[in-house]
Amino acid sequence: MALVEIHNLRVRFETDEATIYAVNGIDLMVEPGQSIGIVGESGSGKSVSVTSIPRLLPRTARVEGSVYFNGKDMMRATASELQAIRGHQIGMIFQNPHAYLNPTRTIGKQLMEPLLFHHLAGVKRARAMGMEMLDRVGIVNPKARFDNYPFEFSGGMLQRVLIAMALITGPKLVIADEPTTALDVTVQAQILRLLKEMQRELGMSMIFVTHDLAVASQVSDVIYVMYGGIVVERLPAKQLIRVHRHPYLSGLLASLPRVDEPVGRLPFIPGLPVNTRQPLSGCPFYARCQWHLDQCQSAPPLTLVERDHEAACWLADERRVANGQPS
Ligand SMILES: Nc1ncnc2c1ncn2[C@@H]1O[C@H](COP(=O)(O)OP(=O)(O)OP(=O)(O)O)[C@@H](O)[C@H]1O
Ligand SMILES: [Mg+2]
Repeated sequence: MALVEIHNLRVRFETDEATIYAVNGIDLMVEPGQSIGIVGESGSGKSVSVTSIPRLLPRTARVEGSVYFNGKDMMRATASELQAIRGHQIGMIFQNPHAYLNPTRTIGKQLMEPLLFHHLAGVKRARAMGMEMLDRVGIVNPKARFDNYPFEFSGGMLQRVLIAMALITGPKLVIADEPTTALDVTVQAQILRLLKEMQRELGMSMIFVTHDLAVASQVSDVIYVMYGGIVVERLPAKQLIRVHRHPYLSGLLASLPRVDEPVGRLPFIPGLPVNTRQPLSGCPFYARCQWHLDQCQSAPPLTLVERDHEAACWLADERRVANGQPS
C-alpha cells in the first residue's frame, strides 16, 4: 500500500466576498521511500494540496475527496489522532524558518519539543538526540549552539535547524514546501543535498514543493505539474526534459535559459492566470494554450500516455515532445 493516497481532492475556500476554487480534483500517490516533486506557478494549488495531508488547512476550507496516510483515513481521523501523526509521522519544512521558530526560546528547547510532546524520549535522551541531529544537519559545535536563540543563527542555518526539527522524530513522510526559496543559490544547493541525503539515509518519503523545475528534477523521483488546481502532467523526473506532453510544461521548459541549472522562479508564460473565483470548467490552460481546440472546453482527464507518465491534454498523444521539439 502507498504511504500517501489522495483521490479526487477538491478544496475551496468560502470567504466573505467569494468562493475560491483552490484545488479542483487531484490524485496523488507517494510510495514508501519515494520522493515526489510538485511544481507549478503561484496559486496553482500546491501548498493547499500538501497541507491537506496533515489536515492543517484553515477552517474556511471545504475539503472533499479522500486522503489516506499510512492506511489511515485522514478525512475521518479525530483531532487527537491527527495530533499524534503531525510532527511525528509527518515532518514539515516551510519557506520561512522565522515564522515557525519561537524567537524567545532556545534552539535546543524547540528541537526537543517534538520528542517530548510525542513521548518519544525523556529530557536527557531528547537533549542528546537534539545535539546529534544538529550535528547531522551540519551545525558546527552543536553543544554550544544548542542553547543559542534563533537570532544567533543565519537564514541557512535556521533552515538546517528546521530540517532537524522535522526529522528528529524519524517521520515516514517529510513535506517540504519551498524550503530553499528564501536562501541564496549556494546555500540552497547545500540544503537540497542535505535533505536528499537525509531522506535516503532515513528511508523517508518526501513531497517537495517548488517553483523551480531543475530543483524538482534534482530531488524527486516523480514530478507532478500543477496548473489551475489540477495535475496536468505526472512523469518520472528523469523524463522531464526529454519527453513531456502538456503544453504548459512544454511552455515552461521552452522558456528556461538552461534546464540543468537552478533558475529561481518559474518563467513567465503570456496570458491570464486561471480565475479561481469560478468553478473550473474545461482545460485550465485553454486561454493560454496556442494549440487549443473547441474540444478543450471540456476537461481532458489525466490519462496514461506511456509507462508511468500521465498528461491531461486532448492532444497528449500527438504531442510527444522530445528534446523540446514537437515531433
Ligand atoms: N486561506 C485561504 N483563503 C482563501 N483562499 C486561499 C487560502 N489559501 C489559499 N488560497 C487560494 O488558493 C489558491 C491556491 O493557493 P496555494 O497556496 O495552494 O498556491 P501555491 O501553488 O502554493 O502558490 P505559491 O507558489 O504562491 O505558494 C490561490 O488562489 C490562493 O489565493
Ligand atoms: Mg505555496
